Amino acid sequence: MNLISKTILSITLGSSWLGATAQDAKVEGFVHRQSDPSGYEWPTDTAVLANLDRWQDQKFGVLFHFGLYSVPGIVESWSICSEDVDWISRRSDLPYDEYKKWYWELKDSLCPTQFDPGQWASLMDAAGMKYMVFTTKHHDGFCTFDSKLTDFTITNGPFASDRRSNMAREVFDAFRSKGFMTGCYFSKPDWHCEWFWNPAYATPDRHINYNKERHPDWWDNYRSFTAGQLGELLGGDYGRFDILWLDGGWISGEDIGLDSILNSARSTLHPGLIAVDRTIKGRNENYQTPERGIPATALPYPWESCITLSNDWGWVPDAPYKSPGRVLALLAETAAKGGNLLLGVGPTPEGTIEPEAEWRLREIGRWLDANGEAIYATRPVEHYRSGDTWFTGSKDGSTIYAIHPVADGSSAPATIEWDGNLPSGRMTLLADGRKVKYSVTADGHVTVKLPRGVEALPIALKFTPDR
Ligand code: GLC
Repeated sequence: MNLISKTILSITLGSSWLGATAQDAKVEGFVHRQSDPSGYEWPTDTAVLANLDRWQDQKFGVLFHFGLYSVPGIVESWSICSEDVDWISRRSDLPYDEYKKWYWELKDSLCPTQFDPGQWASLMDAAGMKYMVFTTKHHDGFCTFDSKLTDFTITNGPFASDRRSNMAREVFDAFRSKGFMTGCYFSKPDWHCEWFWNPAYATPDRHINYNKERHPDWWDNYRSFTAGQLGELLGGDYGRFDILWLDGGWISGEDIGLDSILNSARSTLHPGLIAVDRTIKGRNENYQTPERGIPATALPYPWESCITLSNDWGWVPDAPYKSPGRVLALLAETAAKGGNLLLGVGPTPEGTIEPEAEWRLREIGRWLDANGEAIYATRPVEHYRSGDTWFTGSKDGSTIYAIHPVADGSSAPATIEWDGNLPSGRMTLLADGRKVKYSVTADGHVTVKLPRGVEALPIALKFTPDR
């Protein structure tokens, strides 16, 4: 196991795996894949570099998973993959083939009649999020966009006649009109496509189930199909994207001809398009995406931790949502280490964001409204941590922010102490602009006295560093 895997696994994310069909798999901080921290390749395209810099200012985004798995509220796609690992569970009352059939037929039940993309966008805006990524196609191959290359789409099922049936387009438009940077999630593997999982053979794992050398034509068909779907998404009907978020790192972008797809996208409708060929190091992984955890140390290149608000990417019943304080602590740590946080939210099969998620998102946004200066557009400082306190800095280095998370159920402490990052002059509480008293010892230990009645959410302080 490499260093980052160990580190990420060592992080406790607060809740155990309690998804509806995954009760048996208690996997704390479960990770089944993430980027390796080494081997980042800086892009050479200046428009991509500029977009990356702008993206790094946004800090907080949402990753929506919506698809067939939302209907029963189960793990996204993976239950049709016959890998015997604890984080994939499926109904045990059905033999595998019947299970898959049952799963594919969920397409006849997915009908998100309450879908209101404007409401999704307003809520995520109120949560203080600045960019978004939406699943246009997950590994199960079901498209939430109007692909003409398959009939396995939301525009073909019971939702077909609805004016909002091309969900992906609706979602991207709604978020763009709120000023969000937009990201298109697309799974390179497609388990529904016969050129990936060919019906002539069994489907024992996530990979293609045939020998490419023996069936080069099948693989060619797959490449054309995938390039064709990406062409549909990048062809203009879905607007201009900032990010192409490609999941399914067991096949690489190279396999599907990603270079030419990106060249043509960037030179036409999507200048500066950020490519995220997840876990595939090199020129098409413009930022890295550690999953369900935060790297142990700051990383000197663009990265984003994707972490779920509950424990699953998609909607599951009775989800064990994280508290606002917990999410804000993750955001503070991520920002201090120079990354972005992409928070996973799963809309219900009716197409709504459930109230249990909504109030948490609004609380997070209320905190960011007052304290966002310590997060947005900041850059890491040399000493980004002292004990439980995280530090960020303004881009010009003139201001430092200290962010001290408060554990759930605790009240705000009376004092906060740290070493290093010595303040000079006035220090204020970002929440209300009040001046706070502090003392500094000769050996560089800072003690800040907090006023009474400070809210039990992360405490953010602002000061000028002593040079
Ligand atoms: C993992 C899962 C995938 C999910 C993704 C989101 O890669 O395999 O199902 O969509 O994480 O980050």
